[in-house]
Amino acid sequence: LQRVRVRLRARPSNYEIKVGASLLDQLGAQSRQSLDPRARSIALISNPKVFKLYGERARESLRREGFSVKHWLMPDGESHKSLGTLEGALEFLSRCRLERSDAVVALGGGVVGDLAGFAAAVYLRGIAFIQAPTTLLAQIDASVGGKTAVNTAAGKNLIGAFHQPRAVLIDTDTLQTLPRRELTAGWCEAVKQGAAGSRKLFDQTCAFLSSPSAVERASSSTRIERLIAAHCAFKAGIVAGDEQESLARLDHRSRRILNFGHTVAHALESVTNYRRFRHGEAVGQGMLVAGEISKRLGMLDASELELLREAVSSTGRLPRADDLDQAAIRAALTHDKKSIGGQLKWVLLERIGRAVIVDGREITERLLRASLRAGLRQ
Ligand code: NAD
Ligand code: GLY
Repeated sequence: LQRVRVRLRARPSNYEIKVGASLLDQLGAQSRQSLDPRARSIALISNPKVFKLYGERARESLRREGFSVKHWLMPDGESHKSLGTLEGALEFLSRCRLERSDAVVALGGGVVGDLAGFAAAVYLRGIAFIQAPTTLLAQIDASVGGKTAVNTAAGKNLIGAFHQPRAVLIDTDTLQTLPRRELTAGWCEAVKQGAAGSRKLFDQTCAFLSSPSAVERASSSTRIERLIAAHCAFKAGIVAGDEQESLARLDHRSRRILNFGHTVAHALESVTNYRRFRHGEAVGQGMLVAGEISKRLGMLDASELELLREAVSSTGRLPRADDLDQAAIRAALTHDKKSIGGQLKWVLLERIGRAVIVDGREITERLLRASLRAGLRQ
C-alpha cells in the first residue's frame, strides 16, 4: 500500500491518496475516516460498465461501515459529460436527500470523476466527495487535484469548479479489466507528467514501459503501485503550489505545465469530432508536435526529442494523425480555451522534465506547419 498526502494552502482541504491492490474493499472504512462523523448517506455515481465490474464491492464495503448507499449510473462516454447528465446527477442527489455532512463517491474513469465531482461541488453549494478512479488516466491524473467539469457544444471542460476530494482510493486491481487503448491513453498522460515536470518520473515511467508487455500487464504488482503513487505525488506537488492554475503563473512549476501536449491534442480531437482518439492518445501526438516546436525554436536538444518519441511509442500504437487536414488543425488551435488575452500559450520543453511556457506570437506559421508535419508523422 502506498500513501500520498495532498497538502493545500487551506489546511482542512488536505487529503490522502491510497494506492494498492484490493482497496475497493476498504472504501467504506476510508469514507468513515475521511468524512464528517455525522455522515450517514452515500450517493454512489458510476456508469453501467464499471458498476457491473466493481459496483457491488464498493456498495458492500460502504454498507459494512453503516452508510446508507444509493447509486446512480450515468451513460458511458465523453459525450455524456454534459449539462444534461449533470442535471440527472443533481436530481439523484436531491432524491437521496443528502445532507451537508453526507457525500458523493465517484466510481469510474475521468468522465465519471469529473461529472460526479462537479455535481458534489454545486449540490448544497458543495458537499464532500471521494474519488475511486478505475482507469489509469484517472488514477495518475484526473482524480488528483480537484478539477471537476462538464463539456458543452463549445468545447471540453468549459463549465466546472475546483472542488477537492476528501480522499482518493486507487485500487490497482481495476486496471486488469481496462481495455488496451485506455491503458495506452493513460500511459501517454504518464509520459506527459514526467516530460513536463520530472526527469526522474519520466525515467521511472519509461523503465516500466520497457519491461516486456508491461503496457498490457498493468496489474496489482507493487511496481505499478509505486509508479502510480509517484505520479500522484508529482501531481499533488504541482497542485499544492498552484491549486487554481493562476493566470499570473507562467513558470516551470505552474499547474499549466500539466497541459503539455494538450494544445494540439484538443485540436486533433476537435477536427476528428472526438471520434478517432482517446484523449490521452491525442496528448501523445500533441507532445510530439510540442517537442518539434521546442527543437525548432532551439530550446530542446534533438536527443531529448528522440527520448520523448521513444517514450510515446512505448505506450502502444496511437491512431494516425498524418492524414488530417493541417489547415483545419491550425484553425482549431486558435480556439484553445487556455488562451490568455487572445494569445495561445504553448507548453514547450527545455529538456525532459523541464517545461517552459511560450507565447503563441513567438511561433511563426512556418515553424508551426513544419512542426505539425514532423510531429504527426507515423
Ligand atoms: P473514461 O472515464 O471515459 O473511461 C474510459 C473507458 O473505460 C470508459 O468506457 C469506461 O467505462 C471504461 N472503464 C473505466 N474503468 C474501467 C475498468 N476498470 N475496466 C474496464 N473498463 C473501464 O475516460 P478516462 O480516460 O478515464 O477520463 C477522461 C476524462 O478525464 C476526460 O473527460 C478528461 O477531460 C478528464 N480529465 C480530467 C482531469 C482532471 O484534472 N479533472 C485530468 C485529465 C483528464
Ligand atoms: N490535468 C491537468 C490538471 O489537473 O491541471
